[in-house]
Amino acid sequence: MSETPGFKPAPTLLVGVDFGAAHFDAELQELGLLAKTGGLQPVARLTCKRKAPDPALFVGSGKADEIKEMALLHGAVEVLFDQSLSPAQQRNLERHIGLPVNDRTLLILEIFAQRARSHEGKLQVDLARQQYLSTRLVRRWSHLERQSGGIGLRGGPGETQIELDRRMINDAIKRIKERLVKVKKQRNTQRRQRERRDTFNISLVGYTNAGKSTLFNALVKARAYAADQLFATLDTTTRQLYLGEAGRSVSLSDTVGFIRDLPHGLVDAFQATLQEATEADLLLHVVDAANPDFPEQMAQVQKVLHEIGADALPQLLVFNKLDAISCERYPLSLHDLYELDGVPVPRIFLSAQTGQGLALLRSALSDTVKAALPPDRSHGHDPRDLSREYPDAVS
Ligand code: GTP
Repeated sequence: MSETPGFKPAPTLLVGVDFGAAHFDAELQELGLLAKTGGLQPVARLTCKRKAPDPALFVGSGKADEIKEMALLHGAVEVLFDQSLSPAQQRNLERHIGLPVNDRTLLILEIFAQRARSHEGKLQVDLARQQYLSTRLVRRWSHLERQSGGIGLRGGPGETQIELDRRMINDAIKRIKERLVKVKKQRNTQRRQRERRDTFNISLVGYTNAGKSTLFNALVKARAYAADQLFATLDTTTRQLYLGEAGRSVSLSDTVGFIRDLPHGLVDAFQATLQEATEADLLLHVVDAANPDFPEQMAQVQKVLHEIGADALPQLLVFNKLDAISCERYPLSLHDLYELDGVPVPRIFLSAQTGQGLALLRSALSDTVKAALPPDRSHGHDPRDLSREYPDAVS
């Protein structure tokens, strides 16, 4: 998050509970990065193992005591769980620990609320946030409240306040839904106008922090915001990209980063901000090849693409951060085919940061565009059939 002058990030204790999931993040790295992006300052982390969540406290009461002690020791003023808590668990934990307790879901919602720029994106995020809040009955922390010093224990708002909050939230939900209907109508009109133009549209998609904005900048020499934060980009940016070999321009869009366990309701928000992706002729799926978790991250991206109805679009995989790949994992070939959901998909290794491999990508894109859009679109082969460019590819 961009630093607000005078704004001090809240010291936060991170907690992760291992229920035996294959991808349990024992280091809580992603949560830490998310917390920083959301304006919190992780000061310590605590992980524990359980077979199942405790219905009342999510963790055992002994562990809850430990969380309290650790928070005190490190001066944490908030506790952040990696998993979703039920409203009751959250309430009980706050009583037990004596500090505000939040979960990953709310944090992601807050980050989206801070980052959304387009009118529709803002409305969608607001809707998802209000829906989440309505299940919690009371208004939860927001960074605006925090900045004005309003954060702290909720101090037990009375029943009247809760009812008032509930009514306000329900009214807000109704208003936002009405406004969204109007905005969607406008967007459809704009889309129809765009469709009349004969352009080839390429959308960058990928797990958050994979390097989409860096690649976008490297390709079009724009200055989209790239940072080591999650969701640095929330709204779609589109630029024209000239492909010399194809002798024509295509339109390239940078989109929001995907993430696992996206809060329910935010998938719709994604749909709004990812409209470009669902209408693309080609998806450039950017992968952080230096991250050992890349297969899981790719699976998460595929899942979201499926949810927004973009999973059948042709893809070109860009395995980024080649410069950060260790010698023993260095690929034998910089372009090959990679099996994605049982389908061989062309893949290119490159480094958006150093520029290595960018020429190869431009060339592959030119070939695709030339094949898909000869003077007359109707004579092109299916752009999905990128494998033709790499007949000798290995997997
Ligand atoms: P979101 O906006 O969260 O979706 O992120 P993004 O996918 O747009 O990633 P971004 O371009 O912001 O890059 C994330 C981090 O990875 C930044 O710190 C970049 O400097 C770094 N990065 C991007 N490309 C490369 C690369 O080729 N090599 C290395 N070593 N780092 C890179």
